[in-house]
Amino acid sequence: MKDIRIVVVGSTNMDMVVHAHRLPLPGETVLGGDLIMAAGGKGANQAVAAARLGARVTFIARIGRDMFGKQALENFRREGLDPRYIIEDPDAPSGVALITVGPAGQNIITVAPGANNRLLPEDITRAAEVFAPARVVILQLETPIETVLQAARQAKATGAFVILNPAPAPTIPLPAELYQLIDLITPNETEAHILTGESSPESAARVLLDRKVASVIITLGKDGALLANGSQPLERIPGFSVKAVDTVAAGDCFNGALACALAEGQSLPQAIRFSHAAAAVSVTKPGAQPSLPTRNEVEAFLAEQNR
Ligand code: RIB
Repeated sequence: MKDIRIVVVGSTNMDMVVHAHRLPLPGETVLGGDLIMAAGGKGANQAVAAARLGARVTFIARIGRDMFGKQALENFRREGLDPRYIIEDPDAPSGVALITVGPAGQNIITVAPGANNRLLPEDITRAAEVFAPARVVILQLETPIETVLQAARQAKATGAFVILNPAPAPTIPLPAELYQLIDLITPNETEAHILTGESSPESAARVLLDRKVASVIITLGKDGALLANGSQPLERIPGFSVKAVDTVAAGDCFNGALACALAEGQSLPQAIRFSHAAAAVSVTKPGAQPSLPTRNEVEAFLAEQNR
């Protein structure tokens, strides 16, 4: 394995997934298939995605001292993540996500954060040693914002490239300091709209650049992604068309792949194409972490597209 080091700070959940013939409306019950339990959580998904693609990943997170926490830790060890800063919290349950998947692979998700909400800035300070050798640090918003901010400060101080995937979309404005600390922000279209109030991805990207983020990637589902990189012209980078069975963690797969590719030194457009390929493979399989592809799978997919 090449020495491409990444730090992921974020959430880990047990996903409880039911596939249904359609998503329920408010107040409605629909009957679905059998319950599937699979490892999830935006932080953990991104960490596992980057590790399967070849990065050396330290994951900083909190789990409960319960069955799900134990399973998560075993899973992280199996995936080869550095588990030294996964903290077992005796006073909170592990995070759980309730997920319904519809017929076109679309989903609705409600998260019970549990121990994820107790990942503190001190937990990040204690893990200072892993920030120094990291080329990329990636953050999301399923843990407290003070913790995200502390991680961004620490990452910036050691010269790492800092990615913020602002998911789930915040309910209050993000601190101005956070925008200034991050090198790249990667909202999807809905998150970009919530962050900026703008309806078009192009206008949202410009607002985010004005907030002093160096680069912006707005993911657009089947329409690919919009890249706004400093003063360069905005660029649309198309994705790949595949038959989706389950889009849970497609965004996490994209972000984990992006962290890996950028840490390897790929340019932003190259890294986006690589991440589109990883996400395309992931949506053809069910589950969050079970769907995340290996390096060989992504390279085979790209080779197939180039034929
Ligand atoms: O992004 C998908 C993830 O969101 C799921 O794995 C679920 O746990 C929630 O965090």
